[in-house]
Amino acid sequence: MSLTTVHTVADLRATVASWRAEGLRVALVPTMGALHDGHISLTKLALEHADRVIVSIFVNPTQFSPDEDFGAYPRTLPDDQKLLDGAGVALCFAPSVDEMYPDGFATKVHVDDGMTNVLCGAARPGHFDGVAQIVTKLLLQALPDCAIFGQKDYQQLMVIRRFSADLNIPVEIIGAKILREKDGLAMSSRNRYLTPDERAIAPTLNRVLASITAAAASGADIGPLLAKGREDILSAGFDPIDYLEIRDAQTLDLVTQTVTKPARVFVAARLGKARLIDNHAIEPSHTAG
Ligand code: PAJ
Repeated sequence: MSLTTVHTVADLRATVASWRAEGLRVALVPTMGALHDGHISLTKLALEHADRVIVSIFVNPTQFSPDEDFGAYPRTLPDDQKLLDGAGVALCFAPSVDEMYPDGFATKVHVDDGMTNVLCGAARPGHFDGVAQIVTKLLLQALPDCAIFGQKDYQQLMVIRRFSADLNIPVEIIGAKILREKDGLAMSSRNRYLTPDERAIAPTLNRVLASITAAAASGADIGPLLAKGREDILSAGFDPIDYLEIRDAQTLDLVTQTVTKPARVFVAARLGKARLIDNHAIEPSHTAG
């Protein structure tokens, strides 16, 4: 089956309706394009859950603040289409901004929970309102059986789980593990902003997270671990660090002393033009207190 691309909600719905008529299961993988193997790992997981996979490609203006990289964000549709075709994806949905936000558009989706004000929510005010708005629209436009999101954007995944449950959106939300380069750098569309020198430095983030994870899982005090981690990240050449924190894996509440329940360590830091994010799961191997 070769890839078809549609640009309107009407065409998306007509295609999904024809699959439904055949009794096929449908999965959606929302993206902003500039696709890499991390995205393709989501489409592979989608094919394990469904007969037909849709990948949406839309650089969503409402999740960028005015000083961010909306204008510069890489747009590579022909390359993306080749990748998707080779990965067995049936449909690419690539709408215009006017198709998604026509004149008169006035509706916001706001997740009113502390989890949206921390980490990337604190560093990027309004970002998760934009994500919630566009993902709600995409889920309702396609109405797939399931939708796949990467743990690379772990906070985003938790926000999407929250509003999907709250709004009774009848779509199963599936999380997918982080795909990394051989040297450990989490794959990201923004990695292409890195110069060769910066690219050599970038895996520091993953190394620091791995050593924090190992120590925290065996019960070490968090304070000194994070202080050492910050030092290592800054001395590698990142500046500034937006955050380096350990938080509860479910509620995203801050963990300040030792890890006694499943948690995650999160980092966001700037390297040249790129703001890189990463996170690791911490499963405590010691018993509490
Ligand atoms: P984008 O950054 O293009 O990411 C699309 C999906 O790919 C997200 O679910 C993200 O977590 C996942 N992803 C990115 N890099 C990954 C990696 N290295 N391993 C595994 N998964 C990875 O996230 C967005 O777009 C947007 O916010 C979107 C949800 C599409 C809403 O506009």
